[in-house]
Amino acid sequence: MSSTSPPTSCTSRFRRVTSCAESPYRAGSDSAAWTDSTRSARSSASAARACSRSDRAEASSGDVELLARLRMRRPDKPLPYADCWDSPEAYVEQLLEFSTTSDTFQILCGGVHILDFFTNDPGIFQVAIPQDWQPYILQCEPMRFLDLLMRDDLDAVLEPPPPESLVEYIRTIRKFSLAREFSPTKEKLPKLTRMVSVGMKPKKIHEVSNFANYVDTLAKDIAIDYHKEITHFVDFGSGQNYLGRALASSPYNRQIIAVEGREHNIVSAKELDMHAGVSEKPRVIRNKKLYMQKLDSMVPEGQLDERALKRAANPAKPSSQYVPDFRPINVSEAIYTPEDGKGFIRYIEGRLESGDLADVIRQVEHDPLADADENGRNDPSLMAISIHSCGNLSHHGIRSLVLNPRVQAIAIVGCCYNLMTEKLGPPTYKHPYMRPSLQALNGRVVRESERRDPQGFPMSDRLCSYNDAGIRLNITARMMACQAPQNWTEAESDGFFTRHFYRAVLQKMFLDRGVINKICHNDKLTNDDGSYQSPFNVSTNPVIIGSLRKSCYGSFKSYVRGAITKLTTNSEYHEYCDIIGEKMLDVTDEEIARYEESYGPRKRELSAVWSLMAFSAIVTESLIVTDRWLFLRQHPDLVQDSWVETVFDYRESPRNLVVVGVKRPTPTSVFIEPRQYT
Ligand SMILES: C[S@@+](CC[C@H](N)C(=O)[O-])C[C@H]1O[C@@H](n2cnc3c(N)ncnc32)[C@H](O)[C@@H]1O
Repeated sequence: MSSTSPPTSCTSRFRRVTSCAESPYRAGSDSAAWTDSTRSARSSASAARACSRSDRAEASSGDVELLARLRMRRPDKPLPYADCWDSPEAYVEQLLEFSTTSDTFQILCGGVHILDFFTNDPGIFQVAIPQDWQPYILQCEPMRFLDLLMRDDLDAVLEPPPPESLVEYIRTIRKFSLAREFSPTKEKLPKLTRMVSVGMKPKKIHEVSNFANYVDTLAKDIAIDYHKEITHFVDFGSGQNYLGRALASSPYNRQIIAVEGREHNIVSAKELDMHAGVSEKPRVIRNKKLYMQKLDSMVPEGQLDERALKRAANPAKPSSQYVPDFRPINVSEAIYTPEDGKGFIRYIEGRLESGDLADVIRQVEHDPLADADENGRNDPSLMAISIHSCGNLSHHGIRSLVLNPRVQAIAIVGCCYNLMTEKLGPPTYKHPYMRPSLQALNGRVVRESERRDPQGFPMSDRLCSYNDAGIRLNITARMMACQAPQNWTEAESDGFFTRHFYRAVLQKMFLDRGVINKICHNDKLTNDDGSYQSPFNVSTNPVIIGSLRKSCYGSFKSYVRGAITKLTTNSEYHEYCDIIGEKMLDVTDEEIARYEESYGPRKRELSAVWSLMAFSAIVTESLIVTDRWLFLRQHPDLVQDSWVETVFDYRESPRNLVVVGVKRPTPTSVFIEPRQYT
């Protein structure tokens, strides 16, 4: 890992809080730090109630811990589960049981893939959807069905009445789904300046404004409750550093360590820093007259303008050593000057492969301009933060709390669960519906589950060892967990139902024309005559098509033609191009029309299954987030407190759950409050 900004710092950044009065945030309980938060409405009395209920056992382990717990303005519940659950334990226990015993849930979350919708007979709708639901679903308009799943009051009289078992399934998914409502802070968030928000879309402005305020407030709480000032925020996967730039700017003025795996993102981030005034352009000292003269000499004779001719008439006399500097401004030489009371950004380029921040911390500890001790070391105290922390990057951010003594807290918002790897290996007979993550014929070779990646899902011992087999999520389940079905509009859903329908019918054409084959997942589940004992034991090879030009989605014929052209001209997979060419190039328009005619009437089957998959996957996301929280909870010796809550409006940004962890304070830094508070 290499630091790409000059090793600079300022003394205030490493100032240690040695007494209560020294903390800039300790202005009493009515200060901004205590009121400016979505959590401000939650009184310490309700925190006490939460403690007395679910956390009684832990709280009784000492007055000091109880005190810290009461003061820290965490939500009443450590997970935003529905009110029907008495405790986090009850929620977790039932969630795990449901997700490993409900056939319908397991089929819809990892048992079926939309590609195989028409490749078997009977099709997926017939085998995946309980029979008594089928007639109701088929008469239901797609948008009406989405309302039933996510918005209708299930206690009201519904016309026509849905089957009782379907209503029961919907209730169950709803009660296991972590709540996503977001109550914006009562006070106005500091507005990002025009310069700081350059490059951000409204969604990013919403995320950055809310999250910058959230982590700043959390750090202030920690400073008050633990007497431990957070000196730096480490942003995991900072991208263009929108969040870090906002935090380094007024009113936050925080010290940021932006860790990013892609160099080009750091280059763009530095350009934006210059624009926002967080850094200065590199100074190029030039003798202007000589410099202009040199530029003039590069213009072809006869093309000089009037001013250039004037300069030529009265030339400056350069010394023989003068070499004009023509280099363009180089962002990597942008000047970041530490200033007392101001924010500062340090970029570190490198790909994090775990939560171990030893390299990063070493660079911060040995920052030559910081307020060092007699051994030349600083005393940084870090909070790991991240938004849109894709795949395992979230795991690294969360693990950093237990792996690095210098990390005092974490606040991580995940996304792109499809990019997470799998820790537990391929499914076993204990996962009768789970489709293994299959290798795409024209994709890079990824045997994800076989890698058994220790950094992958699940993180917590609880999920790893649940009922011996553990909780597994294949690629299909993880991809569906990235959907936001509550946000689907009629036009959008109609668009992707059509795209999935076209893709599923094309897969059937591929199968019929011998481009792909059927794959049996488990040979032991095959009858003597070669037939399959379970419809979930068979799939077809995925073929990656990716997106096509907009015009290709106008009709099934243009879709098929566009897909064949793309697949036969792909330069990466020559071997596969040849097969598609050989098997598909002679397809006639009449044949394409026959497929469309034969499967068209079944499009509603597909939209209903896709809707049920996305709806059920809200529980998959809840499982993923709960696993992250459980991981923090399994380290009570190190982690004082941990919780999950919403930080964004789901309509703006649906991956809106933050996982927070706060390190247990060391005995010497604990603030002892008068007895009456305990
Ligand atoms: C989805 S982007 C989010 C960027 C930024 N957090 C934001 O919200 O604007 C994820 C970023 O994390 C970076 N990234 C992903 N995995 C990483 C890793 N293991 N180490 C370092 N950076 C990583 C990617 O290069 C990308 O810039």
